[in-house]
Amino acid sequence: MRRDPEPLGGIHPLLAGRFSPSRFDPAAGVDDDSLGLLLEAARWAPSAGNSQPWGFFASRPGEPDHGRVVRHLAPSSARWARDAGLLVVTLAHRHVDDTPLLYSEFADYDLGQAVAHLTLQAQAMGLAARQFRAFDLEGLTEELRPNPGWAIVSMIALGQAAEEPAKDRDRRSVTDLLSAPWSPPDTP
Ligand SMILES: Cc1cc2nc3c(=O)[nH]c(=O)nc-3n(C[C@H](O)[C@H](O)[C@H](O)COP(=O)(O)O)c2cc1C
Repeated sequence: MRRDPEPLGGIHPLLAGRFSPSRFDPAAGVDDDSLGLLLEAARWAPSAGNSQPWGFFASRPGEPDHGRVVRHLAPSSARWARDAGLLVVTLAHRHVDDTPLLYSEFADYDLGQAVAHLTLQAQAMGLAARQFRAFDLEGLTEELRPNPGWAIVSMIALGQAAEEPAKDRDRRSVTDLLSAPWSPPDTP
């Protein structure tokens, strides 16, 4: 994989400043107004046919629902996610009730966009976010029992970062983004 030596060059400071911390300040809470703004940002994301196929389960340390989520964290994520001021479980509306009929072909794609909106809103508010999959999906689904057609996809830990971004963050180059999906043309 080719790497870009200057991954942050020229992009908007909100994007350039975003990173996924693996340490949060346990003393920094996320208040109701902040939670409302984060969800409002997700609400205004674009989606196929304006289907808005996303849903969330939000909990904060000290709330009874927080324990219901924390007990399903994997050991790797429990190390930092339990210190975050807010844990958000993300869900996609994939199917119509309990039928195999798709509610939206783009449910997961659109959820990702809503989460991107939410994480950038967080960044603008001085909060950091780490999305993660390191949890017991089956156990959490059993715990929260989403409605038929809804699937838990990921979690987001949000709060005050208690570390700086790593120095060795890297990304594939822009050239690779444009070339990786394609084979070189046949030479005659
Ligand atoms: C869908 C998704 C799942 C992820 N799962 C995990 C995870 O299980 N554990 C973890 O430590 N980080 C997880 N991450 C965070 C990524 O590792 C991180 O975004 C990536 O290394 C790039 O770092 P950056 O966000 O700081 O640029 C996940 C991110 C996304 C978007």
